[in-house]
Amino acid sequence: MKLVKTINELRNVIANWRSEGKTVGLVPTMGWFHLGHLSLMKMAKGKADKVVVSLFINPMQFGQGEDLAAYPYDLSRDMHLAEKEGVDLLFAPSSEEMYPEGFQTSITVKNLSQGLCGASRPVHFAGVATVVAKLFNMVQPDLAIFGKKDFQQLAVIRQMVKDLNFNIEILGHPLVREDDGLAMSSRNSYLNQEERRNARCLYRAITSVREKVSGEGTEPSVAQLTDEVTRMINATSGCAVEYVEVVDKETLQKSATINRNSIIVLAVKINGRVRLIDNALLYPEENDS
Ligand code: PAJ
Repeated sequence: MKLVKTINELRNVIANWRSEGKTVGLVPTMGWFHLGHLSLMKMAKGKADKVVVSLFINPMQFGQGEDLAAYPYDLSRDMHLAEKEGVDLLFAPSSEEMYPEGFQTSITVKNLSQGLCGASRPVHFAGVATVVAKLFNMVQPDLAIFGKKDFQQLAVIRQMVKDLNFNIEILGHPLVREDDGLAMSSRNSYLNQEERRNARCLYRAITSVREKVSGEGTEPSVAQLTDEVTRMINATSGCAVEYVEVVDKETLQKSATINRNSIIVLAVKINGRVRLIDNALLYPEENDS
């Protein structure tokens, strides 16, 4: 596996692959790899001849007071893990390489960036869209893979690709969970033992309402489901719901009633410090996450 830190070298390596007729898949990341990231890399290996993984903790997508300075980083650890997955190139640029002095462009995917995570993180999705557009232009991949764990992010990127005519296939990968159901996340490393145990309430609450949807009897209303999830999570020590909503998986618009496209999405603060997100389709038989 090649470790590349400059855009020039990245373009040179990719130009060589292209001259040999190879297809290229891209997996953008911020590092501190877990099985979620590694499954995206595995999927990319199965879909493209060459796989590029980017590792860049993108300052533009962190708001004031968020965890940019604390975000876990260990390049040699991540290099080792990516290499084991058969990744061909790890692109780990510096902030100066990505945002040289004078940088001033921002891409906003207007409607999809509002609401849900966008409500408490107003600059987040513009930062994501901008860095991903830059990576797309640098790598010019045939396909790029994103996790459904970050459901709103995937929707924002799909819309950007459509609106800006990127000729790139966007693939979503199912959400990967720990054995006890907690969605894998680099941010789980911020949790102490007790917080980690309490964080199980997210998946427990999701599972409980999904059973209600698929179970016997009258289908619960959207309000009943979101109230139950909120109650279960807020009753767990240290856990506070930021939002719980049932939305359409394509448009992210609030669902008035539950149907096969309905997805429950939530964000929870643990001890006011660690922000976790999760989501699941409400009809389990169609759930791929
Ligand atoms: P990061 O949080 O490192 O995630 C990189 C990719 O891994 C994203 O597509 C994310 O959705 C996916 N991922 C993370 N945890 C996952 C899980 N448990 N199951 C499935 N996929 C998972 O998301 C970002 O970085 C950044 O916003 C980025 C897109 C790289 C732009 O900076």
